[in-house]
Amino acid sequence: MAIKRGTTGKKNTQSVKKTTPSSNPQQSPTTVESTSKNQERLLDPTNKDSDESNAQNIRPHRLEDYIGQESLKSVLNIGIKAARGRKDPLDHLLLYGPPGLGKTTMSLILAEEMGVNCKITAAPALERPRDITGLLVNLKPGDVLFIDEIHRLNRLTEELLYPAMEDYRLDITIGKGQAARTRSIPLPKFTLVGATTKVGSLTSPLRDRFGLIERLRFYEPEELALIIERTAKILDVTITQPGAMEIARRSRGTPRIANRLLRRVRDYQIVHKHQSINEEVASESLDFYQVDPRGLDWTAIPSAHIS
Ligand SMILES: Nc1ncnc2c1ncn2[C@@H]1O[C@H](COP(=O)(O)OP(=O)(O)OP(=O)(O)O)[C@@H](O)[C@H]1O
Ligand SMILES: [Mg+2]
Repeated sequence: MAIKRGTTGKKNTQSVKKTTPSSNPQQSPTTVESTSKNQERLLDPTNKDSDESNAQNIRPHRLEDYIGQESLKSVLNIGIKAARGRKDPLDHLLLYGPPGLGKTTMSLILAEEMGVNCKITAAPALERPRDITGLLVNLKPGDVLFIDEIHRLNRLTEELLYPAMEDYRLDITIGKGQAARTRSIPLPKFTLVGATTKVGSLTSPLRDRFGLIERLRFYEPEELALIIERTAKILDVTITQPGAMEIARRSRGTPRIANRLLRRVRDYQIVHKHQSINEEVASESLDFYQVDPRGLDWTAIPSAHIS
């Protein structure tokens, strides 16, 4: 499956700030400033650090490797099977929920499962009408077009999307004033996957054009522990189940945070020459990074994120 970025791809060109201690084993973590700011960065679910962008291989590629979100997976499983049977693309899908829970990952999995390309863009990169038209006319039949932060689309772009989503048609206006004419260009059938942390900010005409609207939930510690163990295997890190649970408990229900904490604990393990990450090593190193055993009660946060 080819992963293509949108034409302007601003999100892609965003500079990635290194906001976590170095993952270089040569550098002792004791040189890291252990401030509460550092702790905030470690627990920030919106912070897509350079570790993450360099490690695309830790993203699951198949639905069966995607841990948790059982109800979402079963809805999509049926959708995929039915679409394949009809030889049609999947219905347009809106994924909403707090950052770092796996919306982008799910969109890439859908394309992989359907055997099509996934073009990724974000609403702030679709400033001019030609940004979205360029993407739409270059779609191949069945392709997935993923638009992140879809609640931030401007009105013109959004209006171009309506007939594209509904009738696979692009209506463009050529010329100005009295000489203006509208032309309709047929588009291949495609699937739009929109992702948002603020579903309440979507206009209702846009929301109504999605056949499937699904919410991602925070993960249980047991699910996060499985994600941590899977990532540890890929990164070639030895970890025990209680070690993974200790990291999971401090990850605020969020895989992005869990994977980030695992990397920091791995640094600590290497520098302190521990054989594996067991509960004690995990707990000791997370204390070192000042990550609270429970942190603030993150289960109270979702309404703020998804309203
Ligand atoms: N269910 C899962 N199983 C395994 N790993 C996961 C899962 N969900 C997310 N991840 C991991 O967490 C990281 C963050 O996921 P992703 O980028 O898909 O989140 P997102 O919801 O798109 O976040 P944002 O709203 O900030 O764009 C990914 O690198 C991925 O490896
Ligand atoms: Mg994302």
